[in-house]
Amino acid sequence: MGYVHEALKKAQQNRNGGDEFAVISERIQAQVSRSPVQRLQTRKEILRDYYLIKERLHSLQMLQGVRFFTFTSAHRAEGVTTVVAHVGYIWANSLLTPGFSSLTGPEARILLVDANLNNPQLNAFFNLENEMGLAECLTQRLPAEKAIKQTSVKNLFVLTAGTLRGDLSHQLSGSAFANLLQELQLNFGAVLVDAPPVIAHPELIALSTHLKHFILVVRSEDTPSYAVKKSIETLSELGRKPLGIVLNARRYYIPEKIYRRL
Ligand SMILES: Nc1ncnc2c1ncn2[C@@H]1O[C@H](COP(=O)(O)OP(=O)(O)OP(=O)(O)O)[C@@H](O)[C@H]1O
Ligand SMILES: [Mg+2]
Repeated sequence: MGYVHEALKKAQQNRNGGDEFAVISERIQAQVSRSPVQRLQTRKEILRDYYLIKERLHSLQMLQGVRFFTFTSAHRAEGVTTVVAHVGYIWANSLLTPGFSSLTGPEARILLVDANLNNPQLNAFFNLENEMGLAECLTQRLPAEKAIKQTSVKNLFVLTAGTLRGDLSHQLSGSAFANLLQELQLNFGAVLVDAPPVIAHPELIALSTHLKHFILVVRSEDTPSYAVKKSIETLSELGRKPLGIVLNARRYYIPEKIYRRL
């Protein structure tokens, strides 16, 4: 885990400095066990971790006008969908608080895009049907507004993956996806993209053609350090050095209260 910790240390140091890893380095607690969570957690102390991530993304949105944040991981099952769903939920909810409730139009809408086309999960997370989605927008020119679904959470929308499977790399790197992103940019204040893993997934490389800002989700005590290193290198070679790392499912061996004072 040496490399992960080095990267996280650097992130901590640079947190306020605006350097490459300055944005996110939050710890998300393990939620009881590794058993399927697959639903939104509402315990305050868990949501607080996601809230801190949302705050960092929000400041990037405000200061640098970044609208699209793409979450990926080295391998499968590191928690990308879980993180995207919770950060989206928190962000949408924060728009209901007094400071933001006067926002209207695109700024008051958060969109989650399921770009993990061969293993879609966001639809299940929010209990949405997935017949028409991103894949159909890309291959059948279905207008995005017909495919985007409102969730039960106010201000939160999902473009599910759709039903077509296979390698859609060509479409993801092509003009159809670029046009779709332009349309989404006009209609949403922030777009969180649930992407496939970096290693051995050509769709991720295709996605990086038009998406610039990546966040790497790392499963604490699980993702091997060489895989994290390789993912960062691959993204860097594509000119997409990650904005930061989210350390997911961290276990605290001393009481968390004490840990936070260290
Ligand atoms: N912090 C956590 N605590 C406990 N369980 C978690 C946590 N994060 C994710 N999980 C569980 O781990 C499993 C994988 O998480 P998730 O589906 O979010 O990963 P993923 O990276 O999106 O996977 P895939 O690559 O297959 O899309 C799920 O069962 C999820 O509920
Ligand atoms: Mg997933």
